[in-house]
Amino acid sequence: MEIHESVLDVIGDTPLVRLRRVTEGIACKVFVKLENLNPGGSLKDRIGSYMIEKAEKAGKVKPGGTIVESTSGNTGVGLAVACAVKGYRLICTMPDKMSQEKINLLRGLGAKVIVTPTAVAPDDPRHYVQTAKRIARETPGAHYIDQFNNPDNPEAHYRNTGPEILRQTGGKLDAFVVSMGTGGTLSGAGRFLKEKIKGLRIVGADPEGSIYTSIVRNGKPSETHVYKVEGIGHDYVPGTCDPSLLDDCITVTDRAAFQMARRLAREEGIFAGGSTGVNVVAALEVARKLPAEATVLTLVCDLGERYLSKQWNDDWMRDNQLLEEATPLTAAGVIGQRRREGEALVSVPADANVRDAIELMRKRDLSQLPVRKGDAIVGCISENQAIDLLFNRKDLATLRVEAVMGPPLPVMPGDTPAEEIASMLSRGTKAVLVDKGKGELTMLTKFDLIHASAR
Ligand SMILES: Cc1ncc(COP(=O)(O)O)c(C=O)c1O
Repeated sequence: MEIHESVLDVIGDTPLVRLRRVTEGIACKVFVKLENLNPGGSLKDRIGSYMIEKAEKAGKVKPGGTIVESTSGNTGVGLAVACAVKGYRLICTMPDKMSQEKINLLRGLGAKVIVTPTAVAPDDPRHYVQTAKRIARETPGAHYIDQFNNPDNPEAHYRNTGPEILRQTGGKLDAFVVSMGTGGTLSGAGRFLKEKIKGLRIVGADPEGSIYTSIVRNGKPSETHVYKVEGIGHDYVPGTCDPSLLDDCITVTDRAAFQMARRLAREEGIFAGGSTGVNVVAALEVARKLPAEATVLTLVCDLGERYLSKQWNDDWMRDNQLLEEATPLTAAGVIGQRRREGEALVSVPADANVRDAIELMRKRDLSQLPVRKGDAIVGCISENQAIDLLFNRKDLATLRVEAVMGPPLPVMPGDTPAEEIASMLSRGTKAVLVDKGKGELTMLTKFDLIHASAR
């Protein structure tokens, strides 16, 4: 029988998986460690149970006691899972930018959640850390876990995450790419791996608006601003974070992070949050510069389900200008997709006779034929006109095209949206001539539009 005593026993030992499709064009191997498969759905399960165990051993929490924590959500969930198993009460403070799913999840796990404003200074009494400290002071028998200064946070990763990665990769690792919230993962797993693997590069992955990249590259913090990715980046360096372990740090925008999270879902079947997007964008940037035999590893930090109302919601993405709208199809795009591309425009001189013009339409299987005078397009002969002439006139060999032709087909620039051309063709225009540049024209028909839209 393979039975575990509680869910706390199945934290960790998460698998490594190779990325196959988002790595197109990259020679080396890129692995992700699936921390989303922990029982609480994130890498923070590791520190949740570990910090409580250490607090129990130190006599800081007593049976039936209360634990207080400031959290972007995942540490709260990790703690809530452990508190549920161990029978503690949990109070979490959370900045208001965090997803409603995380708040509901914490409440579902039995925690009390207090939401605080995001855009306040770290020393403001309304800040989520200050609020948690005050609640811990005011609640009898409460213990403030303080993941931002608690050495047991990096220690959990030093004792568990780091050794797992060493074992799973056999020590064959050239770069470890890691994002920093508390910096516990970096300072624990990163430190362990750097001690054990010679030449290992540790590269930070930092959301745009956070200070870490500037600290690593310029030795001082940059201006900060609010960003949408949750759980990582900072406006100060917490006590648990040791940026000196970083060989480099890469800034990733919200847009790039969320787009990558969407690609991970659709191309790799990995449904993760925005911080994983940040990790993978940075890991691919590192991997792009490495040879085929190299290996890069980063983490899938948490479950994508935690952000269903955000990064997986097109309205939210659009409202925040984060959605990469598909580039609209243009006339040039339609032409680029057809097989007969490259053929010169077939036309007939205005002084040709109608019989020859109709014969040309028949031979080339054309429904309309532009009429030219010198280089200029002056008219058009269509299949309707041809039918009418064939059955009602006898003098086709002597009748000149210019005597019967209709108005010329409209000439449209190559960047005209295909939608605009579709609307013209559905309202009676037979076809349009598209300017491919330098005055070179080609004909675009209803058939071309249908063919292009079917792709
Ligand atoms: C979603 C997510 N990813 C990554 C991290 C970063 O982990 P660490 O605090 O160990 O730096 C966090 C931390 O809160 C997180 O919530």
